[in-house]
Amino acid sequence: MSTDHFAEVERIIQEIQSFPLEDATSLEPFRLQFLGSKSQLKPLLAAIGQVEAAQRKAYGLRVNQARQLAEETYALAKERFGSASENVGPIPDLGLPALSLVQGRRHPISQVMDRILEIFGRIGFSVVEDREVEDEWHNFTALNTPDDHPARDMQDTYYLRDFPGRLLRTHSSSVQSRYMTKHQPPIRILAPGRVYRNETISARSHCQFHQVEGLYIDQGVSMADLRQTLLFFAREMFGKDARIRLRPSYFPFTEPSAEMDIYWGLRDETDHRITKGTGWLEILGCGMVDPAVLQNCGIDPERYSGFAFGMGIERQAMLRYKVPDIRYFFENDLRFLRQF
Ligand code: PHE
Repeated sequence: MSTDHFAEVERIIQEIQSFPLEDATSLEPFRLQFLGSKSQLKPLLAAIGQVEAAQRKAYGLRVNQARQLAEETYALAKERFGSASENVGPIPDLGLPALSLVQGRRHPISQVMDRILEIFGRIGFSVVEDREVEDEWHNFTALNTPDDHPARDMQDTYYLRDFPGRLLRTHSSSVQSRYMTKHQPPIRILAPGRVYRNETISARSHCQFHQVEGLYIDQGVSMADLRQTLLFFAREMFGKDARIRLRPSYFPFTEPSAEMDIYWGLRDETDHRITKGTGWLEILGCGMVDPAVLQNCGIDPERYSGFAFGMGIERQAMLRYKVPDIRYFFENDLRFLRQF
């Protein structure tokens, strides 16, 4: 019985090799005979299990070689005849206008985001991303904002109904606390991403937006380093003559804290409106990382110090592209998106 199987396989191999594959019309008969569901090889492949144990391995090998030979022969022939047959047919009218290529674009938020990441990338900041559904510890507690702390009200939070203690991150500082618990200084990272706050949606604010936050921790990092880093950024982003100022402010996770304004100017009515008549425009929050935050995350505040900053992206995109309403960024209206 086994010898019969062997002989049968050899016979089919002969047949495959001598099959007259001469043009496209011979492809289908070949396929039916050796590859289709009714191919001659099918029962021989199925018979592997019946061959007596001592010969099974050799038989299995040979029958699979036959199958491979059939597949390769078919593929080669198809390539040869297939390409020939595609050349026939009417010659296209070369006078017709060409079809225009529809080209996609980067979303304006992505463009501004990429630019910010690129600028800080040049001075050694690398990008770290993490989850948007966070726990209270990484979003608040580690960042010196314990339960009942009034500062939790600064960022109206969406909690997940079915997952106690879980929330949509209100800032990407949560990525920083995650990173600090896993890495020791020197740390120089940027955390870009989407954040959520329960805010009334209007032309100027939305319940979701994007941030880039930065964190730098090492020995002897000072406020002067922070200022210099931010000045570098402002000049790259807004032009060589950009002027900045730091105004004292408050964040639970930094001490001292500041807000940075850039000088926008007072050239026309709109400038007066968006800068509230001062010519200055706030674009980010920053400060020296509070020693308590370092402590919470397992970094020795006696040895290390650092600064952090965080900025909203929509705001900068609105300024850059003169977009009057933040909602446009989330509506995916092609008439809007095609302009960038
Ligand atoms: N996390 C703050 C916010 O979302 C921004 C910030 C980051 C401020 C780092 C200071 C330092 O508003």
